[in-house]
Amino acid sequence: MESVNAAIVYYSSTGTVHALAQAAADGAEKAGADVRLRKVAELAPPEAIATNPAWGQHIQDTADVAEVSLDDLAWADVVLFGTPTRFGNAASQLKAFIDTTGGLWRQGRLADKVYSAFTSSGTAHGGQESTLLALANTFYHWGGIIVPPGYTDPVQFQTGNPYGTSHVVSSGPPGDVTLEAARYQARRAVTIAAALKAGRAA
Ligand SMILES: Cc1cc2nc3c(=O)[nH]c(=O)nc-3n(C[C@H](O)[C@H](O)[C@H](O)COP(=O)(O)O)c2cc1C
Repeated sequence: MESVNAAIVYYSSTGTVHALAQAAADGAEKAGADVRLRKVAELAPPEAIATNPAWGQHIQDTADVAEVSLDDLAWADVVLFGTPTRFGNAASQLKAFIDTTGGLWRQGRLADKVYSAFTSSGTAHGGQESTLLALANTFYHWGGIIVPPGYTDPVQFQTGNPYGTSHVVSSGPPGDVTLEAARYQARRAVTIAAALKAGRAA
């Protein structure tokens, strides 16, 4: 397989999306990609974080995860973005990073890459699909190649979200099926990015 660079860029307050991001990184690695797992910067004020002990704990637990930089996007052939649902939309922390990409976008350096996204919500029907579709608006502007999981693998018939791996937090932490869906989504994105790369090189 053509060597592919995969960036998994995520925001997580309390660890759910981080777990999905780790599974996606695993899937991308197993598909043969060079992988960078990157968190976006935490922008919430300490007083907000202090309202939820799990939030502060997660920040400590992931202190060793590198923060994303624009170079990670420039480097990548495929980028998977992960965000919790925030009122049916992406978290502002991830959006703030996306809003620093104007320079790369202007140079056309975000175009022609493969993009895919995953999410979690507190409740079922809490806005997972609207969150993923909202992120996809950015991919259109970048001239990206959006690769959703669709129903292209049996695991998708179990998790049931063709837009991107999604988890409902009120059902407990992500289980085997959801983590496998995240691995599969990343594997599919990497495989398609590799085919595109090989085709362009031919
Ligand atoms: C400000 C805010 C807005 C939220 N909006 C929604 C929402 O619209 N629908 C929903 O189901 N859950 C909502 N949630 C719950 C989060 O989506 C949930 O806590 C998150 O998916 C957990 O992911 P994490 O552990 O990676 O932070 C919201 C949480 C916060 C703090």
